[in-house]
Amino acid sequence: MRMTIIVPKLAALSLVVLFGIALAIPTYAGTQLWDFEEDHDDWKVANGEWEIKGGTYHVDRGGQAEHSLIGEEKWDNYTIEAKVRLDAGNWAGIVFRAESEMEYYVYYLNVPSNIIELWRHKEGGWAARDNIAQNPAVEKVKIANEEWIDMKVVVEGDTFEVHLNASVAFAGEQTWSFEGEADDWTPANGDWSVEDGTYKLAKGGRAEHSLIGDVGWEDYTVEAKVRLDEGNWAGVVFRAQSEMEYYVYYLNVPNNKTELWRHKTGAWDARDKIGELAGSNITVANGEWFDMRVVLEGNVMKLWINGEEQGELADETGAGYPAGQAGVWAWETAASFDDVKVVGDEVIGGGTPVEPQDKLATTWGHIKQRF
Ligand SMILES: *[C@@H]1O[C@H](CO)[C@@H](O)[C@H](O)[C@H]1NC(C)=O
Ligand SMILES: *[C@@H]1O[C@H](CO)[C@@H](O)[C@H](O)[C@H]1NC(C)=O
Ligand SMILES: *[C@@H]1O[C@H](CO)[C@@H](O)[C@H](O)[C@H]1NC(C)=O
Ligand SMILES: *[C@@H]1O[C@H](CO)[C@@H](O)[C@H](O)[C@H]1NC(C)=O
Repeated sequence: MRMTIIVPKLAALSLVVLFGIALAIPTYAGTQLWDFEEDHDDWKVANGEWEIKGGTYHVDRGGQAEHSLIGEEKWDNYTIEAKVRLDAGNWAGIVFRAESEMEYYVYYLNVPSNIIELWRHKEGGWAARDNIAQNPAVEKVKIANEEWIDMKVVVEGDTFEVHLNASVAFAGEQTWSFEGEADDWTPANGDWSVEDGTYKLAKGGRAEHSLIGDVGWEDYTVEAKVRLDEGNWAGVVFRAQSEMEYYVYYLNVPNNKTELWRHKTGAWDARDKIGELAGSNITVANGEWFDMRVVLEGNVMKLWINGEEQGELADETGAGYPAGQAGVWAWETAASFDDVKVVGDEVIGGGTPVEPQDKLATTWGHIKQRF
């Protein structure tokens, strides 16, 4: 599950220009706005040469992690929003939850890679820090120099909701490669373990599965490598509302086909069949890795195996699940799973994505359609 992230040194946090920073602080019931049209005695420079210039707050190209702070250490849940322009150089953004000059989170734009990044800085030097998440820029936003970009973070408890420019679709991704523990997964049924860099299920009973993610996830793509080690049926779960309410798309070895079912409450094996598809350009077999992919769009599910489109099935019963977690699954089968990936283009109103506590592997930026 641990993902190696190679990060360039924050060589020069250059020419940050911010204006219109709004802080909405529930605890203090208010909004504060800095438009930098006049003095800013309330800002405290931690590092760098900062000045007000032409109605913006400006820092010249300088060293690593140059920043200026506002507000109080005790602010806990709030929203911070700013317009940011990188005049020269590659990395700039907004700071939040700053406990001291060296202890804070920063959400910033990375021009050369066209990504957004989230880091936690710590004592030891301006560049002492740990990576929390990296995310591709949303499709419609090109992170570039000399361009104003709206940045916003909604901070609540240990969850940060990260936004980039208003009215742009979301693009987020999470991958689990099971190199470490799978402690963010929740087994619903069955005997699960991480072995040899894969997530394994021992041969057991019916509809054994383990879940990941948020019950609020709506349309997304879930992918996984699936191997049936002993037994006939295994696959991927999506739109899981609870341990017993979910869809599963699975491989059926003896019949050389794939099947889609909707599970429901009552028992592990309580379920309705949505449809089945004869394997298209694939032979379903034991002991081989299959790449399974499900693309969800409303009640329509597009199904792929090993890059071959198997077909499309829809749940037209009206009893379907519009949102839910992802997962992996098998039925009276020993199976191995790897490289589970969830990509959401438009997860609206869902929960949230970036949990800062030691979730180095978790990469999920949540960009809402509206500010
Ligand atoms: C992002 O938002 C800013 C400010 O609203 C706008 O000027 C800019 O064109 C937007 N950039 C992109 C790439 O959408
Ligand atoms: C901040 O948000 C967290 C999570 O929702 C909550 O547990 C905590 O009580 C909030 N703090 C305040 C001061 O409201
Ligand atoms: C099977 O694969 C062949 C070769 O890639 C392709 O031409 C054909 O259209 C595929 N068949 C189906 C049903 O997808
Ligand atoms: C499984 O189905 C595919 C596609 O219909 C077919 O090409 C293949 O020969 C079948 N395999 C077996 C073992 O029947």
